[in-house]
Amino acid sequence: MKLLLKQNIWRVKPYVPGKPIEEVKREYGLSSVIKLASNENPFPPSPQVLAALRTHAKEINRYPDGDCFYLRQALARRLRVLPQQLIFGNGSDEILVLALRALVSDGDEVMVAKPSFLVYGIASQVMGAALKEVLLKNLRYDLPAMAQAVTDKTKIIFIGNPDNPAGTYVTAQEVEEFLKAVPSHALVVFDEAYYEFVQKNDYPDAIGLMRTYENVLVTRTFSKFYGLAGLRVGFGIGHPKLIDGLNRIREPFNINSLAQAAALACLLDIAYYRRMARKIASQKIFLLTALRKMGLDCKESATNFILIDVKKNSSEVCEQLLHKGVIIRDMNFWGLENFVRVTVGTNQENRRFLAALKGIL
Ligand SMILES: Cc1ncc(COP(=O)(O)O)c(C=O)c1O
Repeated sequence: MKLLLKQNIWRVKPYVPGKPIEEVKREYGLSSVIKLASNENPFPPSPQVLAALRTHAKEINRYPDGDCFYLRQALARRLRVLPQQLIFGNGSDEILVLALRALVSDGDEVMVAKPSFLVYGIASQVMGAALKEVLLKNLRYDLPAMAQAVTDKTKIIFIGNPDNPAGTYVTAQEVEEFLKAVPSHALVVFDEAYYEFVQKNDYPDAIGLMRTYENVLVTRTFSKFYGLAGLRVGFGIGHPKLIDGLNRIREPFNINSLAQAAALACLLDIAYYRRMARKIASQKIFLLTALRKMGLDCKESATNFILIDVKKNSSEVCEQLLHKGVIIRDMNFWGLENFVRVTVGTNQENRRFLAALKGIL
């Protein structure tokens, strides 16, 4: 081939998505398969969301509202921020990419923790950034070490809070000290994809911190708690000037009309999602208790997934689980040998996973 793709693309270790359910059924000759691999909400959308989708399906011959007007107003009210502090993305992933495109040029540095959410590293490398990786300490972000590693060239620091795959979080006090130490030319991105699952008193109010620190961007999503992973809606909250800059470089119609209608309906039916989140929280305790009874080490998780040390080859464990129709995530790829990550499912799914895992271990 004569095309000259950019060199930095070949440095990227491609993201390997989990296998789709139908493919696992076909490959392994199974009639039923469960997927606990992508940290999705296991429950169906609320009836109001389904009704909104039906209504708006009739209008898909039209382009969507490029400004997400109604969603923007509703979300601004809920978060108590100005509408111009919000930007919407095709998943919160897109906001991370927009921030990189707006701030990073060839040779600039981007700081990430290791291991952490893979998109930070992949998207940074595509932009030609030099990646500065700071190791997790006891599976938590080492914010003092990260602050020390900042240089004049550091343009963005990604903080998954809580992070994936560890499920751990950084506290309000740790974040305050970190922000005091970081120079204001570096954008600190708090990726709060799992925000709504966190039930911790010392979890930081990152939006509140924006009043003092203009170099803070918060990203959240409708993919997890709100169960709209298949529609792709995420959003960023930041200083109006920063958001104005990001808005200039996004695609004009990046949020499709069904996604906008569904996200708005979610906000109007928050009680349903809170009920589902309570079920997920109690299922997380159920899973953690059962896994620990099996003698497995599980890190306390602030999210809807659990990182498990299975104490043997995790790739083999995941492969054996596939034979039993259970898809979870092998953490070998993240450099976490002998670890797997499982998403909290329904009670029935969790029982099936536990029984299959017991059989294998
Ligand atoms: C830490 C973290 N950030 C962001 C995302 C992406 O979410 P979205 O679906 O909004 O792009 C995920 C999804 O797995 C995640 O784990």
